[in-house]
Amino acid sequence: MNYETYSLIERYQRLVEISCDLSSTLDLNILLNRIVHAAADLSEAQAASILLYDEKNQQFFFQAASNLDSPMMQGLVVPFESSIAGAIVSEKKPLIINDAQHDPRHFTKIAKPTGVLTRSLLGVPLITKDKVVGVLEAINKNNEGDFTEEDQKVLLALGAQAAIAIENTRLFQQSDLISELVHELRTPLASLSTASHLLSRPEINEIQRVQLIHSIQNETNRLSEMASSFLDMARLESGRMPFMHDNFNIREVLKDSQQVMQYKAEEKKQTIELQVSDDIPDMVADRNKIKQVVINIISNAIKYTPPGGKIIVAAAQENDEMIIRIIDNGHGIPPEALPHIFEKFYRVPLLERVATGTGLGLSICKKIIETHGGKIEIQSQVNSGTTVIIHLPLIKPAANQF
Ligand SMILES: Nc1ncnc2c1ncn2[C@@H]1O[C@H](COP(=O)(O)OP(=O)(O)OP(=O)(O)O)[C@@H](O)[C@H]1O
Ligand SMILES: [Mg+2]
Repeated sequence: MNYETYSLIERYQRLVEISCDLSSTLDLNILLNRIVHAAADLSEAQAASILLYDEKNQQFFFQAASNLDSPMMQGLVVPFESSIAGAIVSEKKPLIINDAQHDPRHFTKIAKPTGVLTRSLLGVPLITKDKVVGVLEAINKNNEGDFTEEDQKVLLALGAQAAIAIENTRLFQQSDLISELVHELRTPLASLSTASHLLSRPEINEIQRVQLIHSIQNETNRLSEMASSFLDMARLESGRMPFMHDNFNIREVLKDSQQVMQYKAEEKKQTIELQVSDDIPDMVADRNKIKQVVINIISNAIKYTPPGGKIIVAAAQENDEMIIRIIDNGHGIPPEALPHIFEKFYRVPLLERVATGTGLGLSICKKIIETHGGKIEIQSQVNSGTTVIIHLPLIKPAANQF
């Protein structure tokens, strides 16, 4: 590729493309590789590498390099003290060195495994809001030139995106979501396996056959609900779900949600009553996500309330908040279960037979409300009913909140 042809605009265009590309993977190694290749490309350098910071041992280790796929240099340790990487991170500033061989801070051991002698170097810190992730370094400006201010700006912008993407990937990998999911998959899979096995037996009668098909349909529905809840949760946890700033009236959202859930309520001879005053002010939030939350909570109210029950969906402005209340007169939640109610996959043992579910609904709701800068609470009494209270700021919270 002819690097000379890259204008500043073209570089920033590339950067935008790369940013989208970075946020599309949750695999750390793939991500790091994309970052180093993008860094070499954007800064018109011979190679680029990433040093990740190990907070516990206060040192860096090489984790990826654009010119090397072999793990030879992976894990090579660079001390924090008196290293170029250390200087970049402690100053939180980029650094250009155009004569690396004569800089005492240069880590000479890297030449051997990479086969690249460092002449010039441009390093930028990888830092998120509150965490040092590491350092991104571009090595040897092409055509024997020096790294420029412009290279530095572009690499700094890439570094900022890269740090967030690395942090997200790590958070995702650490999350217990996957192991919990695998655990949860076992029950429906076991039922499916048993049901399909029985179905293949010649001795079963017509009634049994219909029952088995029914149970296979139920279990596959459950698996598919689980898959979409799981994806929602994973996207929310990794910060990959965009939040809109819609200006809307909550009455409309509650009405829509009521309509969506009406037939489920009718199936159980339940009523859903709306209580919203006419002069309720507009609010700014992600309309679809607030609707998703309300529908989820109405669905719980229907599921965990006996036939004939009554559900009230109310909204009111209180100070600078919009308060939404969803009240049912159902089974209620025992006090010992209340502290666990927002945990992923948690379901009240006594109610498990009352209705099917994945136990992800409320944790997704909590995450959505909290990302809006709001709060969700549950009050409940066994055999008398449950009230879910949502507090949302009326006006859009600070930009970094969602
Ligand atoms: N209105 C309610 N009345 C009584 N119990 C409730 C109510 N809402 C939630 N619960 C209890 O809290 C548990 C967790 O609710 P959550 O919505 O997270 O999961 P779920 O409804 O079981 O599954 P899904 O992921 O499909 O929503 C439920 O399983 C139920 O035991
Ligand atoms: Mg639910």
